Amino acid sequence: MPELMRAVAFSEPGGPGVLKIDYVPTPVPGHGQILIRVAYAGVNRPDALQRAGAYPAPPGASPLLGLECSGHVAAVGPGVTRWQVGDAVCALLPGGGYATHAVTHESHALPVPEGVTMEEAACLPETCFTVWSNVVMRGNLRGGEKFLVHGGSSGIGTTAIQIATALGARVFATAGSAEKCDACAELGAEAINYRDSDFVAVLKAAGGADLILDMVGGSYLQRNIKALANDGRLVQIAFLESPKAEVNFTEMMTRRLTLTGSTLRPQSDVAKARIADELIRHVWPMVTSGHLRPVMDGVFDMDDAAAAHTRMESSGHIGKMVLRMPGD
Ligand SMILES: NC(=O)c1ccc[n+]([C@@H]2O[C@H](COP(=O)([O-])OP(=O)(O)OC[C@H]3O[C@@H](n4cnc5c(N)ncnc54)[C@H](OP(=O)(O)O)[C@@H]3O)[C@@H](O)[C@H]2O)c1
Repeated sequence: MPELMRAVAFSEPGGPGVLKIDYVPTPVPGHGQILIRVAYAGVNRPDALQRAGAYPAPPGASPLLGLECSGHVAAVGPGVTRWQVGDAVCALLPGGGYATHAVTHESHALPVPEGVTMEEAACLPETCFTVWSNVVMRGNLRGGEKFLVHGGSSGIGTTAIQIATALGARVFATAGSAEKCDACAELGAEAINYRDSDFVAVLKAAGGADLILDMVGGSYLQRNIKALANDGRLVQIAFLESPKAEVNFTEMMTRRLTLTGSTLRPQSDVAKARIADELIRHVWPMVTSGHLRPVMDGVFDMDDAAAAHTRMESSGHIGKMVLRMPGD
Protein backbone atom coordinates (compact mmCIF):
# COMPACT_ATOMS: atom_id res chain seq x y z
CA MET A 1 0.00 0.00 0.00
CA PRO A 2 1.44 3.44 -0.82
CA GLU A 3 2.34 5.41 2.31
CA LEU A 4 0.82 8.56 0.79
CA MET A 5 -2.35 8.84 -1.31
CA ARG A 6 -3.84 11.53 -3.51
CA ALA A 7 -6.75 13.42 -1.94
CA VAL A 8 -8.90 16.51 -2.42
CA ALA A 9 -8.07 18.59 0.66
CA PHE A 10 -8.63 22.09 2.02
CA SER A 11 -6.64 23.89 4.69
CA GLU A 12 -9.33 26.37 5.67
CA PRO A 13 -13.08 26.63 5.05
CA GLY A 14 -14.32 28.69 2.12
CA GLY A 15 -15.74 28.56 -1.40
CA PRO A 16 -15.09 25.75 -3.91
CA GLY A 17 -11.71 27.37 -4.75
CA VAL A 18 -10.22 26.19 -1.42
CA LEU A 19 -10.26 22.58 -2.70
CA LYS A 20 -6.76 21.48 -3.76
CA ILE A 21 -5.07 18.17 -4.59
CA ASP A 22 -2.71 17.07 -1.82
CA TYR A 23 -0.80 13.96 -0.72
CA VAL A 24 -1.84 12.65 2.70
CA PRO A 25 -1.15 9.42 4.63
CA THR A 26 -3.07 6.39 3.31
CA PRO A 27 -5.46 5.28 6.08
CA VAL A 28 -4.89 1.90 7.74
CA PRO A 29 -8.03 -0.21 8.37
CA GLY A 30 -8.66 -0.84 12.08
CA HIS A 31 -10.59 -3.66 13.71
CA GLY A 32 -13.68 -4.51 11.61
CA GLN A 33 -12.73 -1.98 8.91
CA ILE A 34 -11.86 -2.32 5.23
CA LEU A 35 -9.64 -0.16 3.04
CA ILE A 36 -11.23 0.63 -0.34
CA ARG A 37 -9.31 1.61 -3.48
CA VAL A 38 -11.79 4.28 -4.54
CA ALA A 39 -13.01 4.27 -8.16
CA TYR A 40 -15.68 7.01 -7.84
CA ALA A 41 -16.76 9.19 -4.92
CA GLY A 42 -20.30 10.57 -4.68
CA VAL A 43 -20.68 14.35 -4.29
CA ASN A 44 -23.34 15.40 -1.80
CA ARG A 45 -24.65 18.70 -0.47
CA PRO A 46 -23.22 17.98 3.02
CA ASP A 47 -19.71 17.95 1.40
CA ALA A 48 -20.24 21.54 0.27
CA LEU A 49 -21.46 22.47 3.76
CA GLN A 50 -18.39 20.83 5.34
CA ARG A 51 -16.05 22.64 2.92
CA ALA A 52 -17.73 25.94 3.84
CA GLY A 53 -17.17 25.23 7.56
CA ALA A 54 -20.85 24.66 8.41
CA TYR A 55 -20.76 20.87 8.92
CA PRO A 56 -17.57 19.72 10.68
CA ALA A 57 -16.50 16.05 10.54
CA PRO A 58 -17.59 14.17 13.67
CA PRO A 59 -14.84 13.17 16.16
CA GLY A 60 -12.75 10.24 14.87
CA ALA A 61 -13.85 10.65 11.23
CA SER A 62 -11.46 11.55 8.40
CA PRO A 63 -11.26 15.32 7.98
CA LEU A 64 -11.39 14.75 4.19
CA LEU A 65 -14.69 15.22 2.33
CA GLY A 66 -16.66 12.33 0.89
CA LEU A 67 -19.49 10.31 2.44
CA GLU A 68 -19.72 7.50 -0.13
CA CYS A 69 -17.72 5.71 -2.80
CA SER A 70 -17.47 2.72 -5.09
CA GLY A 71 -14.29 0.73 -5.54
CA HIS A 72 -12.48 -2.49 -4.66
CA VAL A 73 -11.40 -3.78 -1.27
CA ALA A 74 -7.64 -3.16 -1.07
CA ALA A 75 -6.98 -4.43 2.49
CA VAL A 76 -8.95 -5.74 5.45
CA GLY A 77 -8.43 -4.98 9.13
CA PRO A 78 -8.40 -7.52 11.96
CA GLY A 79 -11.73 -9.30 12.54
CA VAL A 80 -13.20 -8.59 9.08
CA THR A 81 -15.33 -11.52 7.91
CA ARG A 82 -17.57 -10.15 5.14
CA TRP A 83 -15.06 -9.03 2.49
CA GLN A 84 -11.91 -10.16 0.74
CA VAL A 85 -9.29 -8.14 -1.10
CA GLY A 86 -10.54 -7.50 -4.65
CA ASP A 87 -14.30 -7.47 -3.87
CA ALA A 88 -16.26 -4.73 -5.67
CA VAL A 89 -18.18 -2.64 -3.14
CA CYS A 90 -20.04 0.60 -2.68
CA ALA A 91 -19.89 2.03 0.80
CA LEU A 92 -21.12 4.62 3.22
CA LEU A 93 -18.11 6.44 4.69
CA PRO A 94 -17.72 8.53 7.85
CA GLY A 95 -15.70 10.88 5.58
CA GLY A 96 -12.64 10.56 3.36
CA GLY A 97 -14.18 9.54 0.01
CA TYR A 98 -12.48 12.32 -2.00
CA ALA A 99 -9.23 10.31 -2.13
CA THR A 100 -7.73 7.31 -3.86
CA HIS A 101 -8.20 5.20 -0.68
CA ALA A 102 -10.82 5.30 2.09
CA VAL A 103 -11.68 3.22 5.16
CA THR A 104 -15.08 2.26 6.50
CA HIS A 105 -16.67 -0.32 8.78
CA GLU A 106 -17.13 -3.62 6.95
CA SER A 107 -20.88 -3.59 7.67
CA HIS A 108 -21.30 -0.21 5.91
CA ALA A 109 -20.13 -1.62 2.57
CA LEU A 110 -22.56 -3.29 0.18
CA PRO A 111 -21.95 -5.35 -2.95
CA VAL A 112 -22.22 -3.46 -6.24
CA PRO A 113 -25.69 -4.51 -7.48
CA GLU A 114 -25.84 -6.55 -10.66
CA GLY A 115 -26.09 -4.43 -13.82
CA VAL A 116 -24.95 -1.22 -12.10
CA THR A 117 -21.77 0.60 -13.24
CA MET A 118 -19.12 1.68 -10.74
CA GLU A 119 -20.07 5.32 -11.50
CA GLU A 120 -23.69 4.61 -10.58
CA ALA A 121 -22.73 2.50 -7.57
CA ALA A 122 -20.91 5.47 -6.01
CA CYS A 123 -24.25 7.35 -5.99
CA LEU A 124 -26.20 4.75 -4.05
CA PRO A 125 -25.02 4.62 -0.41
CA GLU A 126 -25.59 8.14 1.00
CA THR A 127 -28.99 8.66 -0.60
CA CYS A 128 -30.25 5.08 -0.05
CA PHE A 129 -29.19 5.04 3.63
CA THR A 130 -30.78 8.48 4.15
CA VAL A 131 -33.99 7.87 2.23
CA TRP A 132 -34.71 4.36 3.50
CA SER A 133 -33.97 5.19 7.15
CA ASN A 134 -36.08 8.37 7.08
CA VAL A 135 -38.92 7.46 4.72
CA VAL A 136 -39.46 3.84 5.75
CA MET A 137 -37.77 3.09 9.11
CA ARG A 138 -38.66 6.48 10.67
CA GLY A 139 -41.55 7.73 8.49
CA ASN A 140 -43.18 4.30 8.11
CA LEU A 141 -44.36 4.90 4.51
CA ARG A 142 -46.74 2.20 3.27
CA GLY A 143 -48.16 1.35 -0.17
CA GLY A 144 -51.28 3.39 -0.98
CA GLU A 145 -50.19 6.38 1.11
CA LYS A 146 -49.54 9.86 -0.27
CA PHE A 147 -45.91 10.97 -0.02
CA LEU A 148 -44.43 14.42 -0.69
CA VAL A 149 -40.70 15.04 -1.11
CA HIS A 150 -39.28 18.55 -1.39
CA GLY A 151 -36.18 19.08 -3.57
CA GLY A 152 -37.48 16.30 -5.82
CA SER A 153 -34.69 16.67 -8.41
CA SER A 154 -31.88 16.43 -5.82
CA GLY A 155 -29.85 13.30 -5.20
CA ILE A 156 -32.04 12.59 -2.18
CA GLY A 157 -35.25 13.57 -4.02
CA THR A 158 -34.70 11.39 -7.11
CA THR A 159 -33.97 8.41 -4.85
CA ALA A 160 -36.98 9.09 -2.62
CA ILE A 161 -39.36 9.33 -5.59
CA GLN A 162 -38.21 5.98 -6.96
CA ILE A 163 -38.23 4.11 -3.64
CA ALA A 164 -41.66 5.47 -2.64
CA THR A 165 -43.07 4.66 -6.09
CA ALA A 166 -41.68 1.11 -5.86
CA LEU A 167 -43.40 0.77 -2.46
CA GLY A 168 -46.74 1.65 -4.09
CA ALA A 169 -47.15 5.16 -2.67
CA ARG A 170 -48.69 8.07 -4.59
CA VAL A 171 -45.73 10.43 -4.89
CA PHE A 172 -45.65 14.24 -5.11
CA ALA A 173 -42.41 16.19 -5.54
CA THR A 174 -41.57 19.90 -5.52
CA ALA A 175 -38.84 21.38 -7.73
CA GLY A 176 -37.81 24.85 -8.90
CA SER A 177 -37.93 24.64 -12.72
CA ALA A 178 -39.88 23.03 -15.56
CA GLU A 179 -36.85 20.88 -16.46
CA LYS A 180 -36.52 19.64 -12.87
CA CYS A 181 -40.28 18.96 -12.71
CA ASP A 182 -40.04 16.90 -15.93
CA ALA A 183 -37.24 14.85 -14.35
CA CYS A 184 -39.39 14.19 -11.26
CA ALA A 185 -42.40 13.24 -13.41
CA GLU A 186 -40.29 10.80 -15.47
CA LEU A 187 -39.44 9.01 -12.23
CA GLY A 188 -43.12 8.64 -11.33
CA ALA A 189 -43.92 11.75 -9.26
CA GLU A 190 -46.71 14.29 -9.63
CA ALA A 191 -44.39 17.28 -9.91
CA ILE A 192 -45.15 20.70 -8.40
CA ASN A 193 -43.14 23.72 -9.57
CA TYR A 194 -42.97 25.62 -6.29
CA ARG A 195 -42.25 28.88 -8.11
CA ASP A 196 -45.73 29.00 -9.66
CA SER A 197 -47.86 26.54 -7.62
CA ASP A 198 -48.71 26.21 -3.95
CA PHE A 199 -47.80 22.71 -2.78
CA VAL A 200 -50.15 23.07 0.20
CA ALA A 201 -53.16 23.60 -2.09
CA VAL A 202 -52.13 20.67 -4.34
CA LEU A 203 -51.75 18.29 -1.41
CA LYS A 204 -54.92 19.47 0.32
CA ALA A 205 -56.88 18.86 -2.89
CA ALA A 206 -55.50 15.30 -2.89
CA GLY A 207 -56.58 14.73 0.74
CA GLY A 208 -53.28 15.64 2.42
CA ALA A 209 -49.86 13.97 2.57
CA ASP A 210 -49.42 11.00 4.88
CA LEU A 211 -45.66 11.59 4.89
CA ILE A 212 -43.47 14.55 3.94
CA LEU A 213 -39.67 14.37 3.57
CA ASP A 214 -38.33 17.92 3.89
CA MET A 215 -34.89 19.47 3.47
CA VAL A 216 -35.99 23.13 3.31
CA GLY A 217 -37.37 24.07 6.76
CA GLY A 218 -37.92 27.77 7.51
CA SER A 219 -41.20 28.94 6.00
CA TYR A 220 -41.91 25.36 4.83
CA LEU A 221 -42.40 24.13 8.41
CA GLN A 222 -45.83 25.69 8.92
CA ARG A 223 -46.83 24.94 5.31
CA ASN A 224 -45.83 21.28 5.67
CA ILE A 225 -48.05 21.00 8.74
CA LYS A 226 -50.94 22.40 6.68
CA ALA A 227 -50.23 19.95 3.83
CA LEU A 228 -50.28 16.86 6.08
CA ALA A 229 -53.33 14.61 6.34
CA ASN A 230 -54.64 13.68 9.80
CA ASP A 231 -52.11 11.36 11.51
CA GLY A 232 -49.49 12.53 8.96
CA ARG A 233 -45.74 12.48 9.57
CA LEU A 234 -43.13 15.13 8.75
CA VAL A 235 -39.51 13.95 8.58
CA GLN A 236 -36.90 16.72 8.50
CA ILE A 237 -33.45 15.91 7.04
CA ALA A 238 -32.04 19.40 6.48
CA PHE A 239 -32.81 23.12 6.76
CA LEU A 240 -31.67 24.67 3.46
CA GLU A 241 -33.81 27.75 4.12
CA SER A 242 -33.55 27.97 7.93
CA PRO A 243 -33.74 25.79 11.07
CA LYS A 244 -35.87 28.51 12.71
CA ALA A 245 -39.55 29.27 12.20
CA GLU A 246 -42.58 30.45 14.11
CA VAL A 247 -44.96 27.48 14.19
CA ASN A 248 -48.46 27.05 15.56
CA PHE A 249 -48.39 23.53 17.02
CA THR A 250 -52.13 23.29 17.62
CA GLU A 251 -52.68 21.17 14.51
CA MET A 252 -49.99 18.74 15.62
CA MET A 253 -52.22 17.99 18.60
CA THR A 254 -55.68 18.18 17.08
CA ARG A 255 -54.75 16.27 13.90
CA ARG A 256 -52.32 13.85 15.62
CA LEU A 257 -49.28 14.78 13.51
CA THR A 258 -45.75 13.47 14.08
CA LEU A 259 -42.81 15.84 13.56
CA THR A 260 -39.44 14.10 13.53
CA GLY A 261 -36.09 14.00 11.74
CA SER A 262 -32.56 12.62 11.77
CA THR A 263 -29.01 13.02 10.51
CA LEU A 264 -27.15 9.96 9.32
CA ARG A 265 -23.49 10.79 9.87
CA PRO A 266 -23.32 10.91 13.70
CA GLN A 267 -25.25 7.64 14.14
CA SER A 268 -23.45 4.63 15.63
CA ASP A 269 -21.78 1.89 13.57
CA VAL A 270 -24.49 -0.49 14.79
CA ALA A 271 -27.33 1.82 13.68
CA LYS A 272 -25.75 2.22 10.22
CA ALA A 273 -25.22 -1.56 9.96
CA ARG A 274 -28.92 -2.05 10.71
CA ILE A 275 -29.84 0.29 7.86
CA ALA A 276 -27.37 -1.50 5.54
CA ASP A 277 -29.06 -4.84 6.32
CA GLU A 278 -32.43 -3.35 5.34
CA LEU A 279 -30.98 -1.95 2.11
CA ILE A 280 -29.71 -5.41 1.11
CA ARG A 281 -33.10 -6.96 1.81
CA HIS A 282 -35.44 -4.29 0.44
CA VAL A 283 -33.62 -1.74 -1.74
CA TRP A 284 -30.97 -3.75 -3.63
CA PRO A 285 -33.77 -5.87 -5.20
CA MET A 286 -35.35 -2.59 -6.43
CA VAL A 287 -32.02 -1.73 -8.06
CA THR A 288 -31.51 -5.09 -9.74
CA SER A 289 -35.13 -5.11 -10.98
CA GLY A 290 -34.65 -1.64 -12.52
CA HIS A 291 -37.15 0.15 -10.23
CA LEU A 292 -34.35 2.26 -8.72
CA ARG A 293 -31.54 3.71 -10.81
CA PRO A 294 -29.31 6.59 -9.76
CA VAL A 295 -30.04 9.71 -11.81
CA MET A 296 -26.60 10.89 -12.93
CA ASP A 297 -25.92 14.59 -13.49
CA GLY A 298 -22.23 14.33 -14.29
CA VAL A 299 -18.80 12.76 -13.77
CA PHE A 300 -15.90 15.04 -12.79
CA ASP A 301 -12.21 14.19 -12.52
CA MET A 302 -10.85 14.36 -8.99
CA ASP A 303 -8.86 17.48 -10.03
CA ASP A 304 -12.18 19.19 -10.88
CA ALA A 305 -13.83 18.74 -7.47
CA ALA A 306 -14.21 22.54 -7.21
CA ALA A 307 -16.26 22.58 -10.44
CA ALA A 308 -18.55 19.86 -9.05
CA HIS A 309 -19.09 21.89 -5.87
CA THR A 310 -19.78 25.05 -7.88
CA ARG A 311 -22.41 23.19 -9.88
CA MET A 312 -24.00 21.77 -6.74
CA GLU A 313 -24.16 25.18 -5.09
CA SER A 314 -25.73 26.70 -8.20
CA SER A 315 -28.51 24.05 -7.83
CA GLY A 316 -28.36 23.61 -11.63
CA HIS A 317 -27.85 19.86 -11.33
CA ILE A 318 -30.46 17.11 -11.57
CA GLY A 319 -29.58 13.97 -9.62
CA LYS A 320 -26.07 13.03 -8.60
CA MET A 321 -22.49 13.99 -9.44
CA VAL A 322 -19.45 11.79 -8.88
CA LEU A 323 -15.68 12.31 -8.81
CA ARG A 324 -13.50 9.90 -10.80
CA MET A 325 -10.32 8.85 -8.98
CA PRO A 326 -7.18 8.27 -11.06
CA GLY A 327 -6.17 4.63 -11.67
CA ASP A 328 -3.01 3.05 -10.26
N1 LIG B 1 -30.20 14.21 7.41
C1 LIG B 1 -29.37 13.46 6.72
O1 LIG B 1 -28.91 12.43 7.18
C2 LIG B 1 -28.97 13.89 5.34
C3 LIG B 1 -28.18 13.04 4.54
C4 LIG B 1 -27.86 13.45 3.24
C5 LIG B 1 -28.31 14.68 2.77
N2 LIG B 1 -29.05 15.48 3.61
C6 LIG B 1 -29.54 16.77 3.14
O2 LIG B 1 -30.49 16.55 2.14
C7 LIG B 1 -30.49 17.62 1.21
C8 LIG B 1 -30.35 17.09 -0.19
O3 LIG B 1 -29.05 16.55 -0.35
P1 LIG B 1 -28.47 16.29 -1.79
O4 LIG B 1 -27.08 15.83 -1.63
O5 LIG B 1 -29.46 15.47 -2.54
O6 LIG B 1 -28.41 17.80 -2.33
P2 LIG B 1 -28.84 18.52 -3.66
O7 LIG B 1 -28.86 17.54 -4.79
O8 LIG B 1 -28.00 19.71 -3.81
O9 LIG B 1 -30.33 18.97 -3.32
C9 LIG B 1 -30.74 20.17 -2.78
C10 LIG B 1 -31.93 20.64 -3.58
O10 LIG B 1 -32.79 21.35 -2.71
C11 LIG B 1 -33.51 22.28 -3.46
N3 LIG B 1 -33.68 23.49 -2.65
C12 LIG B 1 -34.84 23.90 -2.12
N4 LIG B 1 -34.69 24.99 -1.38
C13 LIG B 1 -33.40 25.29 -1.42
C14 LIG B 1 -32.62 26.32 -0.84
N5 LIG B 1 -33.17 27.26 -0.04
N6 LIG B 1 -31.29 26.34 -1.10
C15 LIG B 1 -30.70 25.39 -1.89
N7 LIG B 1 -31.41 24.38 -2.46
C16 LIG B 1 -32.74 24.34 -2.22
C17 LIG B 1 -32.72 22.55 -4.75
O11 LIG B 1 -33.59 22.27 -5.84
P3 LIG B 1 -34.55 23.41 -6.44
O12 LIG B 1 -33.76 24.12 -7.50
O13 LIG B 1 -35.71 22.65 -6.99
O14 LIG B 1 -34.93 24.34 -5.34
C18 LIG B 1 -31.57 21.56 -4.71
O15 LIG B 1 -31.43 20.84 -5.91
C19 LIG B 1 -29.31 18.52 1.60
O16 LIG B 1 -29.81 19.61 2.32
C20 LIG B 1 -28.48 17.63 2.48
O17 LIG B 1 -27.72 18.36 3.41
C21 LIG B 1 -29.39 15.11 4.85
